[in-house]
Amino acid sequence: MEGFKIDQNLYRALNQLLQDLTVAERNIHILHWNLIAEGFIYLHPYLGDVYN
Ligand SMILES: [Fe+2]
Repeated sequence: MEGFKIDQNLYRALNQLLQDLTVAERNIHILHWNLIAEGFIYLHPYLGDVYN
């Protein structure tokens, strides 16, 4: 049985997407604790939903 082959452009694009989403998740996670705003009580759980 021949092994599964993925298109190299698709492979690179998916790898980049994974990297970008990982960085975005970490940045949003940090942001959700570093908020100084009247809306903290609303923004904190909202950003929690976003990074999840
Ligand atoms: Fe939290």
